[in-house]
Amino acid sequence: MELRKLVAGNWKMHGLSTDLAEIEAIASAARNFRGVDVALCVPAILIERAARAVPGFPIGGQDVHEAGEGAHTGCTSARMLIDAGASLTIVGHSERREGQLESDAEIKAKAETAIECGLGVILCVGEILEVREQCAAVSTVLAQLDGSLPDRISTHPELAIAYEPIWAIGTGKIPTAVEIGEMHAALRARLAERYGAEGERVRILYGGSVKSSNAAEIFAVSNVDGALVGGASLKAADFMPIVAAAAS
Ligand code: 13P
Repeated sequence: MELRKLVAGNWKMHGLSTDLAEIEAIASAARNFRGVDVALCVPAILIERAARAVPGFPIGGQDVHEAGEGAHTGCTSARMLIDAGASLTIVGHSERREGQLESDAEIKAKAETAIECGLGVILCVGEILEVREQCAAVSTVLAQLDGSLPDRISTHPELAIAYEPIWAIGTGKIPTAVEIGEMHAALRARLAERYGAEGERVRILYGGSVKSSNAAEIFAVSNVDGALVGGASLKAADFMPIVAAAAS
């Protein structure tokens, strides 16, 4: 099934008031590509200003706490993200799985809380280089997926999966088209097994060193329904050619 593509930017720990003009430039240029969904996941503290600057354009968070509210110093709840103007959030990014030692079970709880509250979710999975070299990438990523998937999904708010090989993030290295195709096909099969027909409609994004120079090749791979873009999403001049590649 050919799904409409989603190209989401993950700004990670980048973005100040002075970057709002770049967000406006991206949102404005995105209107020229009506066949593609575009979103930007910005630092939590920038969400409200970003959402006000680009009404109607999807702004997301990069993490969410699994609890509704409570004594969780420094954390952000799903209702807070929505209150600030977010319509989606990333969960389970490898930089949080590694840096904050987030487990599959926690990520599942975060995804479930976000979806229950009405936030779309981009749930990330991906393997380290040693696992890829041991030819265990597919089994490892499927195990991560099994442990992190929410029990129930719906079309709105949406669940999307981002396959992000950790060794490809910020390195300029990417898997071959065959490797991406093999992983995305395995993810698609597992999603269909888990959710039936609804699993066929879950978008599976690729992430890790996506740039204008490799985007078309990546989007041509079957079961690649978009991209989660880090460094190349910070500037409209770098990001929009990736959106254009998804549109063509
Ligand atoms: P880069 O596009 O900078 O490799 O980052 C990918 C990523 O981690 C997106 O979430």
